Amino acid sequence: MAAAQIFDLSGKVALVTGASSGLGARFAEVLAENGAAVVLVARRADRLAALQTRIEKAGGRAAAVEADVRDRAAMQRAFDAAEKTFGTVTILVNNAGVAHSGRAVELSEEEWRRVMSINLDAVFYWAQEAARRMLAAGKGGAIVNIASVLGLNVDKGVAAYATAKAGVIQFTKALSLELAFKGIRVNAIAPGWIVTDINRDYLAGERGAAMKRQIPIGRFGEESDLDGPLLLLVSDAGRYMTGATIVVDGGQLVALRV
Ligand SMILES: NC(=O)c1ccc[n+]([C@@H]2O[C@H](COP(=O)([O-])OP(=O)(O)OC[C@H]3O[C@@H](n4cnc5c(N)ncnc54)[C@H](OP(=O)(O)O)[C@@H]3O)[C@@H](O)[C@H]2O)c1
Repeated sequence: MAAAQIFDLSGKVALVTGASSGLGARFAEVLAENGAAVVLVARRADRLAALQTRIEKAGGRAAAVEADVRDRAAMQRAFDAAEKTFGTVTILVNNAGVAHSGRAVELSEEEWRRVMSINLDAVFYWAQEAARRMLAAGKGGAIVNIASVLGLNVDKGVAAYATAKAGVIQFTKALSLELAFKGIRVNAIAPGWIVTDINRDYLAGERGAAMKRQIPIGRFGEESDLDGPLLLLVSDAGRYMTGATIVVDGGQLVALRV
């Protein structure tokens, strides 16, 4: 089958959380460019509106819904709005996330809960709701959870983040098993360092240069480096894939670091 055909998303309705910046904004644009109607979700409504305009100007279809991913009532409203505007969501990209830094012994309960509630609890809420609605509509679909290489290996100072992302990977497997026979596929992407607002300052300067030297491909990732893995998981090209985590990290995880 021709590549354009196998990756075509015409007729699909996608919802992307954390679409107001970085990877989420890029995911939304890529999905729209390949034919999906896209629902943009995040807290910063002005940024969502700007992205909606950009997608529509490029010939795509988009709608914006302001929501905090921890708020289950707002989540219901987002799925309702998506259904009303475009139809049942058949692609969910669970991307919203926050970072933190600080040693575990000094981490406050509040900070631990903030990271876990956005990076793990909300992934469960949105995947569960998307799956329930796909099942009710008798439709298959694809759920992609954005994990991290820190869900597979760890570093100092990121205990809550790494624990949440490991949970995302395990939850992806658990949900995939329960939904496989219903035609709903659940997979994850585990990016390495991709320069976005979440880490731009952290990756600057001498520290960034040292970190870059440890990446076998020799550079940090760019948002567009995830286009292919995302399209694979949400399209027919990945129709026999479920429960998988695709690592996209320039070789970082396989390199031995002592
Ligand atoms: N960049 C990397 O190197 C990297 C590596 C591995 C994994 N990741 C993961 O990739 C995902 C996207 O990160 P990014 O790099 O694109 O960072 P980013 O530019 O900071 O984007 C984070 C997004 O999450 C949204 N968000 C945060 N808290 C939210 C909440 N409570 N409710 C709704 N939306 C919320 C933000 O929107 P609002 O603030 O407008 O709500 C924003 O759109 C995250 O899950 C992150 O952990 C990133």
